[in-house]
Amino acid sequence: MELLSLQFDPRHLDAHLIGAGQAALMMARQFQGLDLALTLHGEMMPALATLAREEGWRCVDDMPRTGQLWVVATGSAAEDARWAETARQSHIGVHVPGCPELSTVRLPVRTRALAPETPRALRRGHVSLVGAGPGDPGLLTLRALERLREADVVIHDRLVSPEILALANPQARRLYVGKARSAHSVPQEGINQSLVDWARGGYQVVRLKGGDPFIFGRGGEELQALAAAKLSFEVVPGITAATGISAYTGIPLTHRDHAQSVRFVTGHLRNGTCDLDWQTLAAPGQTLVFYMGLGTLDTLCEQLIQHGLSGSTPIALVEQGTTARQRLHTGTLENLPGRLADLKAAPPTLIIVGEVVNLHETLGWFATQTAKSLGWATGKHPSPLPLADSR
Ligand SMILES: C[S@@+](CC[C@H](N)C(=O)[O-])C[C@H]1O[C@@H](n2cnc3c(N)ncnc32)[C@H](O)[C@@H]1O
Repeated sequence: MELLSLQFDPRHLDAHLIGAGQAALMMARQFQGLDLALTLHGEMMPALATLAREEGWRCVDDMPRTGQLWVVATGSAAEDARWAETARQSHIGVHVPGCPELSTVRLPVRTRALAPETPRALRRGHVSLVGAGPGDPGLLTLRALERLREADVVIHDRLVSPEILALANPQARRLYVGKARSAHSVPQEGINQSLVDWARGGYQVVRLKGGDPFIFGRGGEELQALAAAKLSFEVVPGITAATGISAYTGIPLTHRDHAQSVRFVTGHLRNGTCDLDWQTLAAPGQTLVFYMGLGTLDTLCEQLIQHGLSGSTPIALVEQGTTARQRLHTGTLENLPGRLADLKAAPPTLIIVGEVVNLHETLGWFATQTAKSLGWATGKHPSPLPLADSR
C-alpha cells in the first residue's frame, strides 16, 4: 500500500498520548521541543509528568474519546491493540510505535544526532561522574539532567531510582554495576576499567551514583583510574543522603541550640570490627550521620553509650529517604536496637544521632505533604507512608 505524506503544523494538531509509563516516556521524548498540542492521560510516572510540565503539555485524568491523532504506548501489547482498534473505529489517526500493523499514521523517528559528521572512533570520549541524589528525581541538578539527556552510555548503581534512569537519553545504553553490602555485582576494578574502555571508545559516559559521588561513593577511585588513563572527566555533585533526608524528615543537622557540628560516618565496619574513633564521636554538641549502618546499629549504639553519650540520646533510622516509600523510626540509643527486628527496616537506611532528631516532631513536613498530593489524606487511598514511628 502506498502511503500518503502530509505535514502538520504541530501547534494545531489535536494529539493525545495514551500510556503513562516507560514506553510512553520514550515516545514523548520524540515530541520534545516540537511545540505540539499534546494531551496526556491518566496517572503518569513522575519522569513523564516532569517532561509534560517542561513542555507545557496538557495532562488530564480521563482517557481520550476524540482528537486527530492518538499515539498509543501503554507498555502492553494487548492494551495497545485495543486502543488502536478504538481509534480506527472512530476515524482518528493512530500511531503505535514499532507496530505498523496497528498504526494508520507513521511518525518518523526523530534523532538528535551527536556530532554526526564525526565518526565515533575520532570523537573524544568523556566521563561525567554524576550524583543522582538520594531518590526523589526532583533533587537532581540541572547539569545532571543535561548530562543524562546527552549520554551515550549510563553506568549506574543500585541506589539510582528507575524514575531517574528514565530521564536519560532513550537511546543510551544502561549498564548496571550496582553493589549490595556483601555482593558486588561488578568488582570495583571492573567498573574502573569499563569507564576507561567506554571513554576510549569515544562515548559520552555518565557514571551515575546515588547521592553525591564523593561521599562514600568511591567516586575518587574511579576518577583516579580515568586520570591515570589521561581521559577527560568532570564531576556533577549530587545531594547526599544526609542532607536530602535531613530536609525530608525535618531534622536539621545543625541548630544553634543543639548541634554546632555534624559528622558523616560510615557504619560499615571493616571485618566487623570497630575501627571508629568512638571517643570523638561521643563528644557532645554534634550530630552524627551514619551511612550503611543498619547491620551494625546495635554496635554503634552500644559503643556511643560506652564512650559517654547518654542512653536517652535521640536517634532516627530512615528508610528509603526522600521517596514516597520513606519511613522514619525514632527512639533512643538505648531502646532502638531492641526494636529493630519488629521494625523490619530494609536498606537503604540512614541513621541520625543527636538532639536535633527531636525537632522532627515540629519540623517534619514531607509525609503530610506527599500524602496530600497523592490523595492519601483524603482517605481516597490508604497511606503507604507512615509518619514518624516514635516510641
Ligand atoms: C555506598 S553509600 C552511598 C552514599 C551516597 N554516595 C550519598 O552521598 O548519599 C550507601 C548508603 O547511603 C545511604 N543512603 C543512600 N540513599 C539513601 C536513601 N534514599 N535513604 C536512606 N539511606 C540512603 C544508606 O546508608 C546507604 O547504605
